[in-house]
Amino acid sequence: MATDRVPSKSRRSFLSLSAAASAAVALRIVTEPMLARARDHHPPAGSIMIDANENPLGPCTSAREAIVTITPQGGRYLDGLTEDLVNAIAQMEGVKPDYVTVHAGSTVPLHHTVCAFTSPQRSYVTADPGFEAGMFSATAIGARVVKVPLTKSFAHDVKAMLAAGTDAGLFYVCLPNNPTGTLTSHSDIEYLVQNKPKGSIVLVDEAYIHFSDATSTVDLVKADKDVILLRTFSKLYGMAGIRCGVALGRPDLLEKMYTYGGGNFMPVTALVAASASLKHTGLVPERKKINADIREGVFQWLDSNGYSYIRSQSNCFMLDTKRPAKKVIDAMAAQKVFIGRIWPVWPTYSRITVGTRPEMEQFQAAFKKVMTGAVTASLTPVPSKRLIDGVPVPV
Ligand SMILES: Cc1ncc(COP(=O)(O)O)c(C=O)c1O
Repeated sequence: MATDRVPSKSRRSFLSLSAAASAAVALRIVTEPMLARARDHHPPAGSIMIDANENPLGPCTSAREAIVTITPQGGRYLDGLTEDLVNAIAQMEGVKPDYVTVHAGSTVPLHHTVCAFTSPQRSYVTADPGFEAGMFSATAIGARVVKVPLTKSFAHDVKAMLAAGTDAGLFYVCLPNNPTGTLTSHSDIEYLVQNKPKGSIVLVDEAYIHFSDATSTVDLVKADKDVILLRTFSKLYGMAGIRCGVALGRPDLLEKMYTYGGGNFMPVTALVAASASLKHTGLVPERKKINADIREGVFQWLDSNGYSYIRSQSNCFMLDTKRPAKKVIDAMAAQKVFIGRIWPVWPTYSRITVGTRPEMEQFQAAFKKVMTGAVTASLTPVPSKRLIDGVPVPV
């Protein structure tokens, strides 16, 4: 058993990488922290970091204990732990173990799925605004990137995605969407799967699904459709720095993805923390409620102060600053409150991550000062961004 648990045929492919795959594995993976922290790698002490959709609660207690317990055995690969986690996920989701691979975060399988299913001839179709990571992978391999505006209710416009992507290799659907935290109905996703061009796949990214009431797309995986589903322990489970993500799909689809970079061992700390988190049965409802209560409190405050935002079911939401959002982001940073980035299609909006209640109180106080003109951007000189392959990275 290897990493990222490999479907058995993939272990053979590991030894016979195609030329395309060898080229693709060399491509840069763009991650949420790279996108979020284009400004500052080392924020000043006491900063409020609500810019990268992290979970301030961190791993649950049993996950922390599992990490401590396994540490003395950290000199071993312990690949049986990968099998344990794969089996636990397979059982929870009602699929066979060869429908599951685990990885050091879900960005890795996202990138490799884009490498496997898009090309200069097969486009990458995504929502706008949507999570950008896959778009960077597609651009790097020369695929056409098709950005389709969200509907009026901020769902993926699946009919427009189909119309714009007749040459698609991959349709990316984020449920709930990053950055808006809005949902796309299961029937719309089914429609997309049923009507997509032959040979293409639908990649459904459920990184934030635990915070929401959305219906998972796992039934389409079980039905052997052309769907790869991604989950992560980075969000509700608070393990962004520990790194564990999951891909679910038909073994032949996972094998194609796997060819582009599977095979490395998982850190044992991530495996045991993820397994322990899954065993904590009350964790998802508990943390979903904590996030929803804080988020709703912020929404009430925004409403009572007459500020505009988009209602979300996630741990982030889009705030309309009604002016170039860059100025607000900078003026907030001057107060050591780091809010999220801008999507070019919505230049007056900034993405706000839901932090702890005290963090959100500080956000509110700082935001009010900015909106009433008490603090302006000119107070903070913002370091210039460094671009690598056109991607902003921390300086
Ligand atoms: C929509 C979405 N998918 C995937 C990821 C990747 O998360 P990770 O690699 O930490 O699992 C993120 C990170 O923010 C995300 O927002």
